[in-house]
Amino acid sequence: MMRQSSLVVVANRLPLDDNVAPDGACEWRRNPGGLASALHSILRQAPATWVGWAGGAGPPRPLPDIGTLRLRSVALTEDELRGYYEGFANSTLWPLYHDAVEPPLFDRGWWETYLVVNRRFAEAAAEVAEQGAAVWVQDYHLQLVPEMLRQMRPDLLIGFFMHVPFPPPELFMQLPRRAELLRGMLGADLVGFQRPQAAHNIAQLATKLLGAQANDRTITLGGRTTRTGAFPVSIDVAEMQALAARPDVVAHARELRGLLGQPRRILLSVDRLDYTKGIEHRLTAYRELLRDGLVKVRDTVLVQVAVPSRERVESYRTLRDRIEGEVGRINGEYGRVGEPAIHYLIQPFDRAELAALYQTADVMVVTPLRDGMNLVAKEFVAAREDGSGALVLSEFAGAADELNDAFLVNPHDVEGLKDTLLRAMEAEPADLATRMERMRAHLRSHDIMAWARDYLSTLDHTGRLAERLARR
Ligand code: ADP
Ligand code: F6P
Repeated sequence: MMRQSSLVVVANRLPLDDNVAPDGACEWRRNPGGLASALHSILRQAPATWVGWAGGAGPPRPLPDIGTLRLRSVALTEDELRGYYEGFANSTLWPLYHDAVEPPLFDRGWWETYLVVNRRFAEAAAEVAEQGAAVWVQDYHLQLVPEMLRQMRPDLLIGFFMHVPFPPPELFMQLPRRAELLRGMLGADLVGFQRPQAAHNIAQLATKLLGAQANDRTITLGGRTTRTGAFPVSIDVAEMQALAARPDVVAHARELRGLLGQPRRILLSVDRLDYTKGIEHRLTAYRELLRDGLVKVRDTVLVQVAVPSRERVESYRTLRDRIEGEVGRINGEYGRVGEPAIHYLIQPFDRAELAALYQTADVMVVTPLRDGMNLVAKEFVAAREDGSGALVLSEFAGAADELNDAFLVNPHDVEGLKDTLLRAMEAEPADLATRMERMRAHLRSHDIMAWARDYLSTLDHTGRLAERLARR
């Protein structure tokens, strides 16, 4: 039996690759994804246990500790991977929670697998949590875990945080097992969201579906009260600033500009290859700017970094084909020998390389159709020490609530997107510097540690949990 911890984080993924080195050494590999990025920063030196899936199918493996953080892996079979992760989580909940920009698929078999796997995560958490411990459950993959865990271990303090949007009732009501999903989350003592609207949505749903007494801060059901609220997630600002200031990163940023042909303006996008990220809308806008001569190759270049994601899910495969077809067409039509209109890089980058890219960009284009937060937008701002650079940001990203000095845009409106890109490209340096300084000031006081402290001290009034993390 594994040693027990007083703080347990439960997330679908463990933060490491499934390839532990032959000598057994285990390195943090940051998954390209917001959750791993956020939790990596706060947990790497915390005395805690992280319960999660190590990737791939097969029996569980004992994993080495990472510093003071213990890892407890939850194994999935091939069928479970299909039904729970690729099926219910990423083909039902994910599209539905992101405004159904792709149609959500409903399959009764997937639900059964989701139940089984959620129970396995709950059992693993119950096993590694010491008496009275706090267990912090993350995201839409594990919505049933809070209630299951409460049944198994009533002594625990249970938190739940939803990293993705929580939809309005008219969308959530489409779910065949909506009441069970809602009850599952409400097993927590505190349910946190990225935006205040989500707390409003869950209150309405709990009243309508479960007959609970609810407002935007508390939901009372069967004599027990769950608190709710918005806790916008953030990044490790100090880490990104330190990376961006490293002489080799600064030199690399300069080198990248040279490699891109010293254009007057560099536009940059960095996304997981996901249909929620608005990559196609962005490419349409860019194509039209080139077509109308408002943007010229050699003068301007777009760098699109798009790391592959959930590649066995059909909608992700077809998206990738469409994007690659469109990038090929745009380059074929508007590029010149040695001068593509778009540099398309479909690979993971390490943090230093990302920091150099952020520094090289004149305009960072972050235009998801819907996004819980979007940490890329925050990373870009943190990397811009000199106050230059423009951020074009979708109103539909959680980050827009905080970074309202960005050039905000509705990405569905291609004309509006084109106008906003042009405005950002032509903005006066003094205007950009004012906007950037305000956004940087906000981030300095709202970094990832502030998020964790805020959430955990709301979960635990004694402040005991938050204090433990602060000691890093
Ligand atoms: P999501 O959680 O939907 O993937 P976010 O923007 O919130 O979106 O988080 C993405 C995280 O993944 C960021 O921390 C970003 O730096 C990282 N990331 C994105 N693309 C890459 C890439 N090509 N290589 C490495 N990390 C990446
Ligand atoms: O933020 C939503 C999320 O599902 C996170 O849980 C995860 O970090 C990211 O997207 C990447 O997704 P996946 O774990 O499916 O590769």
